[in-house]
Amino acid sequence: MDNNAPTRNLALELARVTEAAALAAGRFMGRGDKEAADAAAVNAMRMVLQTVDINGVIVIGEGEKDHAPMLYNGEIVGNGSAPDVDVAVDPIDGTRPLAFGRTNSLATVAIAPRGTMFNPGPFVYMNKLAVGPEAKGRINIENSITENLRAIAKAKRKEIDDITTIILDRPRHDAMIAEIRKVGARIRIIPDGDVAAALMTAWPDSGVDVLIGIGGTPEGVLAACALRAMGGEIQGKLFARDEDELRRGREAGYDFDKILTMDDLVSSEDVFFAATGITDGELLHGVRYFGDGAKTDSLVVRGLTGTVRQITATHRMDKLHQLSAIKY
Ligand code: FBP
Repeated sequence: MDNNAPTRNLALELARVTEAAALAAGRFMGRGDKEAADAAAVNAMRMVLQTVDINGVIVIGEGEKDHAPMLYNGEIVGNGSAPDVDVAVDPIDGTRPLAFGRTNSLATVAIAPRGTMFNPGPFVYMNKLAVGPEAKGRINIENSITENLRAIAKAKRKEIDDITTIILDRPRHDAMIAEIRKVGARIRIIPDGDVAAALMTAWPDSGVDVLIGIGGTPEGVLAACALRAMGGEIQGKLFARDEDELRRGREAGYDFDKILTMDDLVSSEDVFFAATGITDGELLHGVRYFGDGAKTDSLVVRGLTGTVRQITATHRMDKLHQLSAIKY
């Protein structure tokens, strides 16, 4: 074999996985039933994942086996052929926005060589600071928000009041929002979906410069896989909700004071990430259904080459229903 021949881009196969989840989950938009939407997305994602040429272990999944019947942490996925990989899934990032017909819910999946993804265990929250390529290497989550915003503004040759931050709308962020306001940066306060928010920091013309705040640790690992390929950066720090969680974390060997760098979150460059819009968002359109088909909008990225692809796909329901057991 020619050693210089391009290797396989698994991100393209992953797009089929997130498309399936989005097509199945999109039917539940606005129906107020988070559980049914999640079950549809998980089922579809798992069925297609089983056809992908990987020997995968879910590192970031739907939780522990006892609580999650499918895509649970430790579950083996793929058709069993090489390569051996870690798999991170979030069949719906933004379950609430989907259930209530709001924007920015996505289906996402990432893979990386076995043993290279951070395993958050049961520790659900992480403080995050994420930027796009221009500010890569200029941030430090140990520094104050003010110092980081100054460094980002300098790196992007902007004034601080030109910088747009994005942060989840949570009471735990009140002090952070007060500090951002004091220093004069602009703020987009979003109800949910910090994977999409992290991607925006590396997306030209998204108008977003930096993601700040505490969100899901699984979502942080997925964002790290995407930003690694898109040339951005995310830093994190595990966040304990109370003393008991802190104690349990320490007993399990987790260090809540340690900065989780990109390398800690995913240590290989050989990552693949895919996301498909479920509801409309700034990055991706949501699923459009028409009589006998549907249209999806996906983003797929590959770490080794840094290639970012946007894939618009038209799906024929009559054909899909003949071939697949998934209820689209
Ligand atoms: P899910 O849809 O998977 O529940 O996540 C939505 C989300 O907004 C994430 O994007 C974010 O990281 C997390 O929830 C924040 O958690 P919480 O809602 O508990 O503050």
